Amino acid sequence: MALDLREKLADTLRGWTAPPIAKGKRQAQILAIASNKGGVGKTTTAVNVAVAFARRGAHVLLLDLDPQAHVATALKLNRGNGYTPLCAVLMGQLREVLEVALPTPWTRLTVAGSDKTLVETEMALSGKIGRELQLCRALNITRSHYDLIIIDCPPNLGTLTLNALCAADHLLVPTDMSALALEGVADIIGCVANLRNTLARPVEVCGIVATRFDRRLLTANAAITQSMTELWGDRLLRTQIPQSASLNAAHMAGKPIFDFAPKSSGAAAYDALTDELTPLLRLSPQAQLNLGWDQRVQQRRSPPS
Ligand SMILES: Nc1ncnc2c1ncn2[C@@H]1O[C@H](COP(=O)(O)OP(=O)(O)OP(=O)(O)O)[C@@H](O)[C@H]1O
Ligand SMILES: [Mg+2]
Repeated sequence: MALDLREKLADTLRGWTAPPIAKGKRQAQILAIASNKGGVGKTTTAVNVAVAFARRGAHVLLLDLDPQAHVATALKLNRGNGYTPLCAVLMGQLREVLEVALPTPWTRLTVAGSDKTLVETEMALSGKIGRELQLCRALNITRSHYDLIIIDCPPNLGTLTLNALCAADHLLVPTDMSALALEGVADIIGCVANLRNTLARPVEVCGIVATRFDRRLLTANAAITQSMTELWGDRLLRTQIPQSASLNAAHMAGKPIFDFAPKSSGAAAYDALTDELTPLLRLSPQAQLNLGWDQRVQQRRSPPS
């Protein structure tokens, strides 16, 4: 407790003495991509959706909250000069995520990276009061510099994922087409409901997206899709991300699918997912303008279902 108080005092003093961080003119929506099941395509989805939005004109911050640091691998980012992992922010040594955000070779895409020390950070956080809200606080000014912040979460419902859920406006849950994955989706949706009741956070499940979808498995796909529809209704998104060798190869090559295989089914699927997410994310009017997204035009284009 005494240590907690000393740290709090040190943070406050740091806040008083450090130069102020300038506020931007944007107002980002924050999208967490999470599931406690491993390997369902969270990072692949986070990276490709982030790149897709940036290509379309949005200013995007991609935040890696997984100690495995797979975002850096998936985009082949150099973790050398100037790379400060998020731990410094979560532990209160820095005030804002903005202070560790680095530009990438992709226009309008910025990344705040992680590394293995996030494991220790998570353990250290677990003894702190208000541990779930560290990230939310550290995005206060940061969000005014971006249109969209995407958080790639680790495959568990630990303190780091809770931080993402408390900071986020929206949650996207990727799931593969297995019975076990259904349980994973139910777990995270239950967790969100819990957060709503106990912490009154506004996070909303904007969608569940089927990933690694193998069209050949007709019977299994039909059974699992039916269960998903019964459980989650229209929160199950129309877009399905196919099982695709190109997506896997792009990940290994450290490139977004739009650079690695722009004509592949994986690129088309992530483009379609970005289309589907755009109206759900309630981006600011300025961001919608930058994206060339006019809801009235879109409504006229898509026939009522
Ligand atoms: N649609 C897909 N088709 C083929 N391979 C895929 C697809 N999506 C992801 N993969 C591959 O599966 C592996 C796991 O994907 P990814 O890292 O995106 O999952 P994850 O949910 O983030 O995993 P973790 O839980 O470990 O963080 C990677 O090698 C990736 O290339
Ligand atoms: Mg991952």
